Amino acid sequence: MYGTQWAALFVLSASIPPHPAVSANTSILEFTKFDLGHDFVMSNYSDHLSITQGNFSIPIWSTVPGKPFITASAGNDSFVGVNGNLAIDEVDVDACLGQNIHSIEHVPWEGAVDGGAAQISGHLLSCGAATTPYTFTLWVPANLTDRVAFYIDITQSSDQPLKKLYFSQASHAGEDFYGLGAQASFASLKNQSVPIFSREQGAGRGDEPLTSIANANGSFAGGDKFTTYTAISSYISTDGKVFYLSEKSTGYANFNFTEPRAVTVRYDSLSVDGAFGRGEDMFDAVKMLTAATGRMPALPRWVDSGAILGIQGGQDKVNRIVQQGLNISCPVAAVWLQDWVGTHSQSGPYVNVSRLWWNWENDETLYPEWDTFVQDLRSHLNVRTLSYMNVFLANVSTKPTGYVRNLYDEASALGYFVRNTTTNSTAIISSGSGLSAGIIDLTNPDLRSWFIEVLKSQVWNANISGYMSDFGEYTPVTSDTDLYDMVSDAFFAHDQYPLLWTEFQRQVITELGLQDEALVFHRSASTGSSRFMNLFWVGDQMLDWGINDGIKSVVTIMGHMGLSGYAHQHSDVGGYTDILTYLDFNITRSPELLGRWGELAAVSSPVFRTHDGNIPSVNAQFYSNSSTYGYFAYNARMFVSLAPYRRMVLETECATHGWPLSRPPVMYHTEDLQARQISYQSFYLGPDLYVAPVLDPQTFNVSVYLPGNGTFTHVWSGVVYAGGQQVTVDAPFGKPAVFIVDGARTPELETFLQFVRAENQTAISIV
Ligand SMILES: *[C@@H]1O[C@H](CO)[C@@H](O)[C@H](O)[C@H]1NC(C)=O
Ligand SMILES: *[C@@H]1O[C@H](CO)[C@@H](O)[C@H](O)[C@H]1NC(C)=O
Ligand SMILES: *[C@@H]1O[C@H](CO)[C@@H](O)[C@H](O)[C@H]1NC(C)=O
Ligand SMILES: *[C@@H]1O[C@H](CO)[C@@H](O)[C@H](O)[C@H]1NC(C)=O
Ligand SMILES: *[C@@H]1O[C@H](CO)[C@@H](O)[C@H](O)[C@H]1NC(C)=O
Ligand SMILES: *[C@@H]1O[C@H](CO)[C@@H](O)[C@H](O)[C@H]1NC(C)=O
Ligand SMILES: *[C@@H]1O[C@H](CO)[C@@H](O)[C@H](O)[C@H]1NC(C)=O
Ligand SMILES: *[C@@H]1O[C@H](CO)[C@@H](O)[C@H](O)[C@H]1NC(C)=O
Ligand SMILES: *[C@@H]1O[C@H](CO)[C@@H](O)[C@H](O)[C@H]1NC(C)=O
Ligand SMILES: *[C@@H]1O[C@H](CO)[C@@H](O)[C@H](O)[C@H]1NC(C)=O
Ligand SMILES: *[C@@H]1O[C@H](CO)[C@@H](O)[C@H](O)[C@H]1NC(C)=O
Ligand SMILES: *[C@@H]1O[C@H](CO)[C@@H](O)[C@H](O)[C@H]1NC(C)=O
Repeated sequence: MYGTQWAALFVLSASIPPHPAVSANTSILEFTKFDLGHDFVMSNYSDHLSITQGNFSIPIWSTVPGKPFITASAGNDSFVGVNGNLAIDEVDVDACLGQNIHSIEHVPWEGAVDGGAAQISGHLLSCGAATTPYTFTLWVPANLTDRVAFYIDITQSSDQPLKKLYFSQASHAGEDFYGLGAQASFASLKNQSVPIFSREQGAGRGDEPLTSIANANGSFAGGDKFTTYTAISSYISTDGKVFYLSEKSTGYANFNFTEPRAVTVRYDSLSVDGAFGRGEDMFDAVKMLTAATGRMPALPRWVDSGAILGIQGGQDKVNRIVQQGLNISCPVAAVWLQDWVGTHSQSGPYVNVSRLWWNWENDETLYPEWDTFVQDLRSHLNVRTLSYMNVFLANVSTKPTGYVRNLYDEASALGYFVRNTTTNSTAIISSGSGLSAGIIDLTNPDLRSWFIEVLKSQVWNANISGYMSDFGEYTPVTSDTDLYDMVSDAFFAHDQYPLLWTEFQRQVITELGLQDEALVFHRSASTGSSRFMNLFWVGDQMLDWGINDGIKSVVTIMGHMGLSGYAHQHSDVGGYTDILTYLDFNITRSPELLGRWGELAAVSSPVFRTHDGNIPSVNAQFYSNSSTYGYFAYNARMFVSLAPYRRMVLETECATHGWPLSRPPVMYHTEDLQARQISYQSFYLGPDLYVAPVLDPQTFNVSVYLPGNGTFTHVWSGVVYAGGQQVTVDAPFGKPAVFIVDGARTPELETFLQFVRAENQTAISIV
């Protein structure tokens, strides 16, 4: 891909191929050091450039010796699939074979410290028939003076339609990478090439045989190890480096870490901007990242007080299950009722799948007295209610239980949907038979005003405390997609949409003055969404123990999202995706999986919420019987016992530095090669707890690596272990391996330690 013409780099303009923009008088590269301002200096070496900060000898950025740092190629990438399941095929034609530099100069630059930037100009050489000019501009942002921002701009060539650029920087075999959003399959991303594109994460994602079966239908419904709901282009490295593309850079990107000596960002446009810098360590790097992309708004305090029960089935069922829980001392903070809008049955091979009516008003059959019902739970039992929302409006004209407003009809008439220029009408999303919907066009200010009124008058009006704010990944990318105000085309609008969706929801909360009350959680996100949501939800997992899409992937995702600046995260306790009868192969939720998932949530997340799954009738539910409810209530109490500690961490490190609550071990032990490879096996919860959850069936002890040279006190047995070894500890039901780090005596841990002492002899069994 990259040519051998590095010799051309740094040569005088006389030796570059003739080009009208180049003359023999072009100012020649005449510098050894170039002051970028604010202690940043760019240096010119015989075969590379580098930037250093202050008197640190290690550069914050350098080009790869002997290799062009900017190139381009022609060829259209293809995105094939429907309904958010898009397979990407990268196409590179006539990649440029070389790059030269012929000038570097100071240029005025808005937003730069001292108002100026350094601009390198040169040519990309032998791009098929084309040679084309580029500029590479570097400056220290006036409002973030601890880093360097960059802007790359390649001139389109009339000789060859260039489509994308490549931007390389030096790395080394010992640099490991984390972040890039909700990555579910790897610890370090070194050696991987990671696409940045918001889409359905798929069912299976590489866990077999399921993925192959699902993908064999040609729909890419199974996904792969890189499919994710998020489009977040920021990473943190073990060298303390932070790198991100700006939130305006919403084209398709791919971060290629497969070359030991280089990181190459492939970006589907001829211009891109971003920034890079270097913190003292990975914590400092997250702080730098979130100073730019934003820190999550605070979680309301009420989430600390108990479980959020995910239930479907109507008022009577909800009341009964809440009462049962309260009778067995299950702390209940809220109910989460996604079927408040009513359900309809979609036929499946053995059982029918229940789907929601995406028309945001309460269903008169399931919740006939919705407002009163919500209010009664709140005032009589101090139990809040969460509902459900997404970016779609579905046509409810065939809804058997009736409707008051058909929002789909209203929005169609007003032209408020993402449109299809081929049909000259709404771009239709079909989510299985009987469910066709449009996507609201959030770039249209009239839609936003109209939809805010809908949300205020018939969603928030019922004194709810928030909702799952679903989807955001489905905006089509075909050239017949039309939005009111497109960034440039549908392709760029696609990864911009999750940012608009999170920003829109935050606007509603702010207008309603509910910042201290509302809990609105999303699974789709783009760079910058962190400042608009107070909770990330890790999406739809398979109801199994799998690495790529089961319970284990929850921990891996939380690690990378944490290093992407998302401090508050949670999962559906129990998972979501049931699979029935693929070649006699079923995946349904066992009571054991439900129990272990509850343990994981209790010791990893600031919010403890269940989901009954996509085919609730075949799954173990927390309310299935006294055994499941007993185990669940125990886990919910364990969650509550950690609340003072969690709250302390949330209000300090998370709020002020953007550090995640749940932390991959590499953050604390950057030089420890074993710690770098931990994806789901263990994590830190704040600074004082180290956790190794049980994520396998019929497993009653865990073997866990204890990093570093400190001490780890196993809370249940009281045994103190020295770091730097692998140990095995008992982990029966209800006793996930939790360790106190370095004998911390944090007072906020006392309620948890009381719980541990009180429950030390409790034996939980599953019947
Ligand atoms: C920058 O590096 C090139 C290549 O080594 C060299 O020819 C040039 O003289 C350097 N510029 C200065 C001012 O040292
Ligand atoms: C680096 O610079 C700072 C002041 O900017 C100075 O205090 C420090 O001693 C310097 N360190 C070294 C190693 O020169
Ligand atoms: C690539 O896409 C452009 C539109 O962006 C189109 O004009 C061109 O024909 C496409 N090229 C190929 C080879 O498909
Ligand atoms: C810094 O300033 C730029 C404008 O130059 C602005 O776009 C950006 O939002 C600002 N960032 C922060 C974190 O204030
Ligand atoms: C990357 O590959 C190198 C060489 O095979 C290997 O030593 C290293 O452990 C790999 N790193 C990761 C994170 O997979
Ligand atoms: C895949 O195709 C087979 C055979 O047509 C069908 O039985 C199965 O339901 C399909 N699965 C999906 C996920 O569509
Ligand atoms: C990543 O870079 C390597 C080395 O240049 C290249 O062989 C590979 O095709 C790239 N991967 C992708 C997905 O672009
Ligand atoms: C497209 O539909 C709109 C109404 O939705 C109509 O006003 C317009 O004339 C149509 N355009 C074409 C080209 O059919
Ligand atoms: C528009 O409709 C045509 C014909 O149904 C379809 O092929 C195309 O995929 C649609 N495009 C969008 C953006 O919905
Ligand atoms: C899968 O589940 C369906 C529906 O519950 C059931 O009828 C079928 O027997 C199950 N198949 C297997 C292999 O367990
Ligand atoms: C323990 O590790 C820390 C951090 O790596 C290091 O600074 C310290 O010297 C080590 N202590 C001992 C006794 O090895
Ligand atoms: C739990 O019980 C074990 C065995 O009886 C005992 O050794 C341990 O000290 C107890 N732990 C706590 C925290 O009470």
